[in-house]
Parts: sequence; structure tokens; C-alpha cells
Amino acid sequence: MELTSSSVTWLAMVILVITAAVTKIATGRKRSATDLTCKMPPPPPVVNSIALLRLLPTLFRSGLPAILHQLYMKFGSVFTISVAGLLKMTFLVGPEVSAHFFQGLESEVSHGNLFEFTVPMFGKEIAHGVDSATKNEQARFFVDALKPARLRIHVDPMVQEVEDYFAKWGQHGTVDLRRELEQLLLLISGRCLLGKEVMGTMFDEVCSLFRDIEGGVNMMSVFFPYTPLIPSNRRRDMARERLHAIFSDIVRSRKQQQGDGVDKDVLQSLIDSRYKVDGRATTEAEVAALMICLLFAAKHTSAYTSVWTGARLLSHGKFLAAAVDEQDEIVRQHGINGGRITDHYGSLMEMRTLHSCIKETLRLHPPVPVLTRTAHKQFTVRTREGHEYAVPAGHTIACPIVISNQVPYIYKDGHLYDPGRFGPGREEDKVGGKFSYASFGGGRTSCVGEGYAYMQIKVIWSHLLRNFELRLLSPLPKSDWSKTMAATKLARVKRPIALNPRSNRPLPPVVNSIALLEHLPRLFTKGVIALMHDLYTRFGNVFTATFLVGPEVSAHFYQGMDSEISQGDLYKFTVPMFAKGLDYFAKWGETVGLAWAESCSHTSQLRHTFDATKHTPNSQKIFSEIVRSRRDTNQLPAEQDRWKLRDRTRGHGTPEGPWGNGEWLRDTNVTGARLLTHDKFVTEALEEQKHMIQKHGDHICYNVLLDMDILHCCIKEA
Ligand code: HEM
Repeated sequence: MELTSSSVTWLAMVILVITAAVTKIATGRKRSATDLTCKMPPPPPVVNSIALLRLLPTLFRSGLPAILHQLYMKFGSVFTISVAGLLKMTFLVGPEVSAHFFQGLESEVSHGNLFEFTVPMFGKEIAHGVDSATKNEQARFFVDALKPARLRIHVDPMVQEVEDYFAKWGQHGTVDLRRELEQLLLLISGRCLLGKEVMGTMFDEVCSLFRDIEGGVNMMSVFFPYTPLIPSNRRRDMARERLHAIFSDIVRSRKQQQGDGVDKDVLQSLIDSRYKVDGRATTEAEVAALMICLLFAAKHTSAYTSVWTGARLLSHGKFLAAAVDEQDEIVRQHGINGGRITDHYGSLMEMRTLHSCIKETLRLHPPVPVLTRTAHKQFTVRTREGHEYAVPAGHTIACPIVISNQVPYIYKDGHLYDPGRFGPGREEDKVGGKFSYASFGGGRTSCVGEGYAYMQIKVIWSHLLRNFELRLLSPLPKSDWSKTMAATKLARVKRPIALNPRSNRPLPPVVNSIALLEHLPRLFTKGVIALMHDLYTRFGNVFTATFLVGPEVSAHFYQGMDSEISQGDLYKFTVPMFAKGLDYFAKWGETVGLAWAESCSHTSQLRHTFDATKHTPNSQKIFSEIVRSRRDTNQLPAEQDRWKLRDRTRGHGTPEGPWGNGEWLRDTNVTGARLLTHDKFVTEALEEQKHMIQKHGDHICYNVLLDMDILHCCIKEA
């Protein structure tokens, strides 16, 4: 079965139902004692079974988003759908109420058993088949394999696949856009993700096996993932075993080849990955499972977005013209005789109009329209209007991106296709904070393939815009995401391209020694930042010894490949520091050693503690106490404990509670200095703390921290 968007619709609905069923069974009606620690607001308004029945005709006529939209308009941003009182699913619409969904600790919010059906698809060695610590490590392997510096390697192979593919299109004709792009994206995945061995002789076989794996996503297999009585389960299992055998052979043979000839593709990166916990390498079976998972995550989402990008562009002449103009400009800037672009990566970075067009497509047509989790602990949400609701433990929680991406107080005329909304001066996706735009998810489990996805879609569409005049022959499906785009017919005519030879670009202006001498007094009186600012004002945003000021000129700094730009020996001095740290903490036993090792990674919970304490005079003491207090208990400190401990070590607890008198603010270095010299903001921050105490009492739990918007902004601004 092909994973079309209608099957995704079914999958989304099945997932919603199954999650609710599973969590209901798993958690029963018990409420944990910790649920009651904060004062309890009422539960969200409930849409009962009768109201749901009334909505059934709309479901069949217009799809799930139409219903969710109706419920959002009626109940606001938080509501619970209750099916006969047995299945309870709470929907959270918009950024104000989604923070906990995306950022809650694994022990509070997780995928739960919802994605059990992926275990026989990928293999039990990864994702939902393993414990959460292993899963986090494996997520890091993906992040490493797809980080911007590595992505660059894939640009040229991507471009070559795209050029070869469209060369077969000829001068004019009609095509089925969806079929064409799916095929092309598979070839790109084969080349960049799966590796040259697969592309050699096994590509067709791997694609066909993968289709059998995707066939495992259907109503029956989702409910009964392990039963061999279902034919699609049997096909899926056979396909998984064969894919595991294929990848295991490849991994084994790659491990035997060492040295310079080794490929730098994603497969190799996964083979080279090491678990931090014990330093062991990934096994053959793990790599095989990770590859299947990656292909599954990449395939449908990218194809769906690529087709919709074209459909939207070709039905909006104004934006199409802007995107074509941008390509012409790029060719003028980067092209050499004959029309070939030499610096593909650089040119992709400059395609801001095309980027916005894809982003806007994803806003209106998110390929993963609803995200779901299980709430293991009760949590409170506060709506924009100030209503508070306690979402009980055991509920399935759902974030309907397809609705959140169009909320009217963030997106003006949100139902309209308008890529300009992301441009300077508007930046609507930033209005409601970091979860205003959630097409790639957010927080702990956000998409690791975002950069890769944009890159391949840009490579495809930039080539099409530059080389063809295109016309959409079939109409846009009316109810967006739930209809397949099987018949997206496209007329194409080869475009004549005028090209200029590549311009010779000047080197950045140089701040020579004399100019530097002139600025010396300023350096001594005002410091280095003031000096930088003067130079920026005088020379603009690029000057040598080369400083790059502002986002337009910084992309290569952050995203260049290791071979082109790296930290070099600049940070060599940190090696003995970290090594010493490891020895130091390892003395206290395995748990503490682990905590230290983990703290060096971005996924660590303890990292917050380091960040919060490293600049303070008491930091060593505080951290020491945390780890000492835990070294015998074989667990990492809970969030609340860390905060309590922090206060205890400082002796700042007061009768009004640890946050009562604002004393603690004085010890937080830059943030504190800024706050204490700005009466208006310190007053606001203290007011917020008073409000926290009124609302939650003295107890500071994770949700309370998430609630501190004003303090958060003060820290960010500092
Ligand atoms: C336009 C294209 C894409 C969209 C809209 C998209 C969207 C998403 C979303 C919303 C999630 C989070 C799911 C959740 O929170 O439950 C996700 C996860 C993920 N995506 Fe993507 N994705 C895209 C392309 C890709 C590509 C190209 C790759 C790989 C090359 C990829 C790899 C992954 C992986 C591995 C995860 C799981 C992350 C984890 O659980 O730690 N995605 N994606």
C-alpha cells in the first residue's frame, strides 16, 4: 500500500483512537498524589458522544480538520473529546497551551504505547522498542547525521540526481507531478541516505521492500501489530527481515573498509555513531532499523510537501513570478557560462523567497497534521484569554498542527497562501513564541530532518523554476490535506535561460593596523564590544580579520562543513578541562560519572543546572550537593529537587517561600544586573512571581517554571 495522504488521514484517526484506548487501559482511573500538589483548576470543556455524532456528517464530507476547526471555534483552545466516557482526548490548539506538550519531561508526557505498531516495522532495536535513554541517544545519532555542516555534503549528489531526472522530461509535455516527485525523492534518498551499495544493484528491491513496510500502516495492523493472521503484517515482517539482512551485510562490509575511501553518507554516520553511556558502537541490526525509520520519516513528508509547494506556487501567479525572479537573480550571481551553478549550497542559502513559499505551504498543509502524546501526570494550561484547565493524567493529548498553524491572532487571513507573512516586518511565525509554527513539531522530539527536507525540496523546485515554464492542469483539491493529489497534472515547456558570466566579487574591506590603532583608546575605555560596534558602523556587516555581523552573512559560519570551517585548535584548551571534570566526578561512582557525561550532551536534564549555576559563586557547591545527594540512589535529580536544593544551598528560603522576596535575583549575574537596574522590568518579574505563588503556592514544579514568561523574556533579552 502506498502511503498516500488519504491513508495518512486514516492513520491519524486510528492513532487518535488507539492512543486514547491504550492510555485509558494503561492508567485506569487512578490519580497520583503528585497531581494534587498544585491548586486544581477545572478540567477542559468536554465534547460528548452525542455532540460527536452530530459532527459525523462533517467528518465524512470535509475531513478531520474541519471538525477540529469547528470545535476550536466553539470551545476555544483547550477541549476534550470524550467517547462514551471511556476514551478521553484533550486537544491543545495554539502556542500558549502547547508548551507542556512539546517540552514536558518524558516522565510527564510521552508517546506512550501509541507508536507500538512501528516496532515490527523498523525492528525492536530502536525507537519505541527500546527504553527512553537509548531512544534519546539514537535521536542524537540522527541529529548528528543530519546537522547542517554534514548536510552540505549532500547538495551536489542531490543536484545531480535532479538534473539527470528532469533531463528525461524533454522539451514539453504533461506529467503526473506526484508520481514524478515521489520517484525522484526516492532516488535522492537512495543516494544521500541509503548509500551507494543500495543504489548499485538493490535499489528496486529496497524500494519494493519498503512499500511492504509502509503497508504495515493500516487500521488492522495498527490495532494488532503483531498478529501474523493479517496478510499485511506478514508481508511487513518478511520485508523488515530482508531489509535488515541487506543493511547488515552493507554495514559489515563497510566496517571492514577503513581509511579515506569510506563514504560520508548518512548510513556511514549511523555506523560511526557511539553510545555515550558505554562508548559502544551501533550494531548492524540497529543501523538497519535506524535506516528504515529514517526513510519512513522522510519519504511521505517530503513528497507531500514537494507536490503541494508546486501546486500552491503554480496557482499563485504573484508568488510564482517572485520565485522565478529570485532564480534568475541567483543564476546571475552564481551562474557560469552554460548556466551551471558552481556554489550550489551557497545559492540554496540565498533562496529566501522559495524558502518562504515552502514554509507557507507547510503551514497550510502540514504532512503530519496532528501530533499525539500521552499525559502521565496532570498538568495545567492557561489559555490566551486567561482560562486555566487541569488536563488529567491518562488523557491522550493532541496538538492539531493543522489548526494551530492558522489561529487568527497569529496568522492574518491564515487560510490564505501568503509567503510574505514570514518576511521582514511581519514575521508572523514569531508572534506567539516558539510554538507558533509547528509543522516540524517542537521541543524534545522535533523533526531532525528539517534542514535536509528544505534542502531537497529547494533543489527540486529551483531546478524546475529555472528550466521549465509550468502550468497546473488539475484543480487544487478543495479540502486540503485529506484528499490525495493523485492526479496533479502538470504541463511543462522548457524555458530558455539567459545567463551572465559569474561576477567577480570583491574581498571584504580590511581594517588595517592603522585603523585599529585609531580605535585603541575606544578599546581601552569601552571594551571590545564597543570597538566591534564602531567597526560595524564604519565598514558594514563584513570586514577583515573577517567578522560576519548579522544573519544574512552568518549562514556559512554556522553551517559550513567541518572540512571548510571549524573550531580548529581554538578550543584545544578545553580538552584538559573536560578530562579533569570527568575524573573529578567519576570518583563519586558511576551515576555521577554518567551525569557528568550526560551533562556534556544537549539532551541532559542536568544541563539546565549547569547553565543556571555556572556563573554563580556557589555553582561548584550547588552542583556538588546535587550529585552527592544522588550518588547512592542511582537516579538523576528530579527537576523540583534541583530547584529546592539550589535555594537551600544559598540559604535564601524565607517565610514567604523560596521566591518570596526576590533575593535570588541578585545572584544571577547578567540577568540579575540587567533586571536590578531596570525598575519597570524587575517590578514586572516580581509581580509575575507573586502571581506564581498565588496560583501555584510555594511549590515550584516544572509547570510553574514553564509559566514564567516574563522572567524568561528578561533572561533572553539579557
Ligand atoms: C517537509 C518534510 C517534513 C516534515 C513536515 C516533518 C515533520 C516531522 C514532525 C512533525 C515530527 C515530530 C513528530 C512528533 O513529535 O511526534 C518529525 C519527526 C521526525 N522526522 Fe520529520 N518531517 C519532515 C521530513 C523529514 C526528513 C526529510 C527526515 C529525514 C531525513 C525526517 C526525520 C524525522 C525523524 C527521524 C523524526 C523523529 C524524531 C524523534 O522522534 O526524535 N523528517 N518530523
